[in-house]
Amino acid sequence: MHGTIDHAGDSHLRAASDKAWSVPLAEIDVSQPELFRTDSFWPYFDRLRREDPVHYCKDSMFGPYWSVTKYNDIMDIETNHAVFSSAASLGGITIRDVAPDLRRESFIAMDQPRHSAQRKTVAPMFTPTHLDQLAINIRKRSAECLDNLPVNEVFDWVDKVSIELTTQMLAVLFDFPWEDRRKLTRWSDVATTLPGPDGLVATEEDRQVELLECATYFAKLWKERINQPPKSDLLSMMAHSDATRDMDPKNFLGNLILLIVGGNDTTRNTLSGSVYALNKNPDQYKKLRENPDLIDSFVPEVIRWQTPLAHMRRTALEDFEFRGRQIKKGDKVVMWYVSGNRDDEIIDRPYDFIIDRARPRTHLSFGFGIHRCVGIRLAELQLKIIWEEILKRFDNIEVVGEPKRVYSSFVKGYETLPVRIAG
Ligand code: HEM
Repeated sequence: MHGTIDHAGDSHLRAASDKAWSVPLAEIDVSQPELFRTDSFWPYFDRLRREDPVHYCKDSMFGPYWSVTKYNDIMDIETNHAVFSSAASLGGITIRDVAPDLRRESFIAMDQPRHSAQRKTVAPMFTPTHLDQLAINIRKRSAECLDNLPVNEVFDWVDKVSIELTTQMLAVLFDFPWEDRRKLTRWSDVATTLPGPDGLVATEEDRQVELLECATYFAKLWKERINQPPKSDLLSMMAHSDATRDMDPKNFLGNLILLIVGGNDTTRNTLSGSVYALNKNPDQYKKLRENPDLIDSFVPEVIRWQTPLAHMRRTALEDFEFRGRQIKKGDKVVMWYVSGNRDDEIIDRPYDFIIDRARPRTHLSFGFGIHRCVGIRLAELQLKIIWEEILKRFDNIEVVGEPKRVYSSFVKGYETLPVRIAG
């Protein structure tokens, strides 16, 4: 068997691996959500990195697309925004094209110079001084959540901790009505789900109905904030900035969804991933328990290991030759962070989870270039504080069954993760 991941003892993954290395290259389609739901996509990327690092798939449920799978190649695409666009009008930043009448601009799905102007509006949220203030709040809320967890009883870590804490954080960032905060979770999930019988919403129309509710709810808050003196929440920041004050309704909803999804799914799935990764690697859990100072390198290592967003997508603005392949104007180019983060030419033993790596921030989970995640410091801070509080309280959070994974090749995460804390 080829590949670097150890699938010993897991027959469905072994079969998937054999298939990945034997199927004709031209038939490889790494975008299938089912591969992510079953965690069986890894060997396909191993093979692409080795045999066809810039790979063309001519037919998929998302139409034809290029896959860029090696670390340095992804950075090259990310930094070439003259050729590779993020614009919503061309289809946006995920492999799934949004229907033209439903396209909404947000600053992640925008090119220069408007991108930078809108991004700057929310930057004060993430300054070190503001994060110091948020840290007090995060610690208090984490402590409360952890103190209320059941002991000696199986419960779902995703719902009780990951969703709850990241949703609380979002509510703080928006100064959102506290009792309604789970609406933020719902809107975030609805915004990223694939409509269908197994999805959170059955049809695209159903999704739009819920997102309209989101827009209506926030429009009310916006009206309040715009008539009040500026405050330090994201809505007030946008309401009082020249770059965003007069956004059209689609741009408004686009930025809201960006900030809700950006700050929600990602940190949530890293927090679930952290518990899972430590259980899969008990020697690393032991190391962390014995030396909590390792949290500083453990956090970026989990973010790399989990890679909560599997990809970002660009659209070629002109014909472009890249690594000997002819990308045509209008082609979809998908940068697979999940693959770049397992590129052994850049990362030593990339499949191993090592909480004291020398350079743990060498990873692509936050992207690269002008769109590199604006919430990095907040995400790392949140995870650091939560783990400091966990280690103070619990000797072991035991994963007692396999997680249920999200059906998506964009959001890479967990729907459920059963755990037990010993009393
Ligand atoms: C952009 C990942 C947490 C807000 C991005 C991008 C990625 C990403 C991959 C796109 C980068 C690119 O295209 O090069 C993550 C991960 C997180 C995380 C893995 C947690 C572990 C957060 C948080 C927030 C946030 C807590 C805050 C609310 C944003 C925003 C953008 C963004 C607003 C758009 C930036 C731009 O286009 O300039 N993030 N993110 N993210 N993220 Fe995050």
